[in-house]
Amino acid sequence: MLRIDILTIFPEILENVFTTSMLKIAAEKDALEVHLHDIRDYTTNKHKRVDDRPFGGGPGMVLCCQPVIDAITAVRAMSDVEGRLIFTGPDGNTFNQSYAQEFSEEERIIFVCGRYEGFDQRIFEILQPEIFSIGDYVLTGGELAAAVMADAAARLIPGVLGHDQSAVEESFSLNTEHGGALLDYPHYTQPANYEGLEVPEILRGGNHKLINEWRLERSLEKTKKIRPDLLK
Ligand code: ADE
Repeated sequence: MLRIDILTIFPEILENVFTTSMLKIAAEKDALEVHLHDIRDYTTNKHKRVDDRPFGGGPGMVLCCQPVIDAITAVRAMSDVEGRLIFTGPDGNTFNQSYAQEFSEEERIIFVCGRYEGFDQRIFEILQPEIFSIGDYVLTGGELAAAVMADAAARLIPGVLGHDQSAVEESFSLNTEHGGALLDYPHYTQPANYEGLEVPEILRGGNHKLINEWRLERSLEKTKKIRPDLLK
């Protein structure tokens, strides 16, 4: 069971993400528990302000120490497991499939979503969190990044996918025969002939050795063409 806590000033962005589809199934199977927390609920000032202008000037607003640190402290205490504290931001480690695997094996992850120009630096000094980015581009906030990481991790929790092999055999995880990450092979379903386009003969033959070889070749071919960097 993985418990994910997400702290944000816009919980409504994430409200439907965890109650539909795969993540809903993960929750129903008791593999995943997701709790959303509004950082604004933890402000001590009258106007419930969570941010302020940056010292030294410049654009944007900075999230203040008090609400963020108090929210994290309160949320941490909601479970006996301390968990891994992860802030989202474009200036972090780049998330990938190995991290998804690692996260899926944790008992608890606390995501804190960034906004505006970021967090007051003293929050990092006090809490020493890890920082994760989902890629080299800038989002308006970390909510979608937290959802991406939670989704990628949740589907790897044993028992969440209907067919556990689906997670092992797909893009970035076809490790067994090749020893590295490859892109996925093409998939086909009925009908065998769609407007003259035929499903490859080998896939209809039932010889699993030949099918596996064919799939590995297609994976290698596709990886070489689209992501040659993965083959190095
Ligand atoms: N916040 C803004 N951009 C981001 C990114 N690329 N990854 C994670 N959080 C972010």
